[in-house]
Amino acid sequence: MEQVAPEIQGAYAVSAEFYDVLHGAQYRRHALALSGPAAAARVGIVELGAGTGLVTGVLVDASSVPVHAVEPAAAMRTVLLSRLAAAGPEALGRVTVHTCRAQQLDLPARADLAVCFRVIAGLPPAERREVWRALADCLLPGGLLFVDRPPAALPAGPGRRRAGRARVGSDVYTAWLTERTESDRIRLDYLYLVHRRGREIRRARETFHQWPLTDEELARELGEAGFRPQDGRSPDVLRLRRLGRRW
Ligand SMILES: C[S@@+](CC[C@H](N)C(=O)[O-])C[C@H]1O[C@@H](n2cnc3c(N)ncnc32)[C@H](O)[C@@H]1O
Repeated sequence: MEQVAPEIQGAYAVSAEFYDVLHGAQYRRHALALSGPAAAARVGIVELGAGTGLVTGVLVDASSVPVHAVEPAAAMRTVLLSRLAAAGPEALGRVTVHTCRAQQLDLPARADLAVCFRVIAGLPPAERREVWRALADCLLPGGLLFVDRPPAALPAGPGRRRAGRARVGSDVYTAWLTERTESDRIRLDYLYLVHRRGREIRRARETFHQWPLTDEELARELGEAGFRPQDGRSPDVLRLRRLGRRW
């Protein structure tokens, strides 16, 4: 029986509804850079923290190998499975959806490409190091990992910014994000607002946390897990190769 993690099963219960409408276009554009590596995959692709499937969709469209999408939060997985169903039988037949957390995944060396976007920053340090190991375990030696760079430091002070806006019929959906330091981590308070003809008709909130990581710590953790950085890509996305053995 595949494990479900009770501590994360209910996460994104508020945000899942707003995720694609407010972030979908931008995150999908960002993920399109993975089309080339996905097309080159010959064995399999693993995506840890697949969320609603914005990145998964790009990986599936570009590839022809089995894809493993790991998503422990039920609300996000609901959108992910609906996306796969809407994509048709070929996509549905090629993607296995795992309900466990990344570090519980039992999938030894089944992939030559692994992707983990917008997940690592949200993991406490001990959990993050377990996830590096899980990524190394599911990749074949020589396999590639793409991961986005977590924030390098705590914020200088509290800050508030708009984090997405979309028109849905006669309504306007907006996300506001307030970031502040909370002990050794960053607290992110999302406020979702829906306006109809200028009048607020709904508001909803959800809070997340992120743990910053300096470039030096990041390089050390990745090296310990058996990854070597490769050249290229944008500075916010790391491209790493899985070495033949763990260091
Ligand atoms: C901000 S969302 C990013 C989703 C997707 N990767 C994207 O870029 O749109 C982070 C996702 O990571 C998942 N997640 C959090 N901890 C995880 C863990 N330990 N293992 C696997 N997924 C995890 C969450 O449930 C959530 O869906």
